[in-house]
Amino acid sequence: MTEPSPKVAHSARLLNHLLGGTDNHPVDRAAAEQMLRHLPGLVTWARSNRRFLGRAVRYLTGTAGVTQFLDIGAGLPTADNTHQVAPDATVLYADNDPQVVALARKLLTGTATYIEADLRDPDHILRAAAATLDLSAPVAVMLIGVVDFIVDDRAAAAAVRDLMAGLPSGSYLVLTHPTLEVAPEAVVRAMEWWNASGSAPICARAPSEVAGFFRGLDLLDPGVVTVTRWRPDGNDTTSVPEYAGVARKA
Ligand SMILES: C[S@@+](CC[C@H](N)C(=O)[O-])C[C@H]1O[C@@H](n2cnc3c(N)ncnc32)[C@H](O)[C@@H]1O
Repeated sequence: MTEPSPKVAHSARLLNHLLGGTDNHPVDRAAAEQMLRHLPGLVTWARSNRRFLGRAVRYLTGTAGVTQFLDIGAGLPTADNTHQVAPDATVLYADNDPQVVALARKLLTGTATYIEADLRDPDHILRAAAATLDLSAPVAVMLIGVVDFIVDDRAAAAAVRDLMAGLPSGSYLVLTHPTLEVAPEAVVRAMEWWNASGSAPICARAPSEVAGFFRGLDLLDPGVVTVTRWRPDGNDTTSVPEYAGVARKA
C-alpha cells in the first residue's frame, strides 16, 4: 500500500486481513488481534461468510440464471469475490468509503465496475447502477456484512426495502448480518471494543429482525440461518454468529 498509514482500523481492511489478504495496515492487524482476544472464532466467522457468498452466487448464476449483481458494501477484493465466482456475469460493486473504492479499483482485475455510493441512499445507487446494469432485467443485490453498519433499525429497513422496490420481478436479495446467536458474550465484547475504537460502529440483530429485511420477498429454503447452514456443501460445519438468507422478488 502506498497511502499513509491510517490511525483508525477500517472494516474492509480488517476483513481483508482476516481473509488472508495483504491490503491492510498495522492498525487493522492490531484491531484484529484485539478482537480475536475477545472472539477467537472471528477468522472462522469471516471465512464462513465468504464461503456463503460463494454458494449463494453459484446458486444464482446456476439454477436461478441471474446474470447481473449489485454488491453493496463490497469492501476490498480479496479472494472469491462476487466477480470471481461469477466471471460471466455483469458485476457492479459499491462502497461508501472513498478510500476503499480507490484501492479496490486499483486491485480489481476483470470487468467488474466499482462506484462510490451509500446504501442509505438507494435512489442514488439505482441511478448510478443504471450506467452499468440493465435495471429492466433481474439483478441480485448482495448485502454481505453491510446492513449492520446502519445501526438505526428504521433506516436499515428503509434502505433495503427501497432498493429492492426499484428492481424488477425476478431480482434477488442476498443478505448476511451479525447476530448474538453464537458466543453472545464474546460477540458483544468484540463489538463493544470495535465501536469504542473510533471505527464506523456496527450492531447485531436478532434472526427475526434479519428475516424482517426480506419482508415482501419470497425467502428461499432454508430461510434465515447461520451462514454455514445455508445450503451447505459439506466443508463448513461450525455455526457462526452471522445469519443469512436469499430471497426472490416475485
Ligand atoms: C465488513 S466490510 C464487508 C465487505 C464485503 N461485503 C465482504 O463481505 O467481504 C463492510 C463494508 O461496508 C462498507 N459500508 C459501511 N457502511 C456502508 C454504507 N452505508 N453504504 C455502503 N457501504 C458501506 C464499508 O466501507 C466496508 O467496506
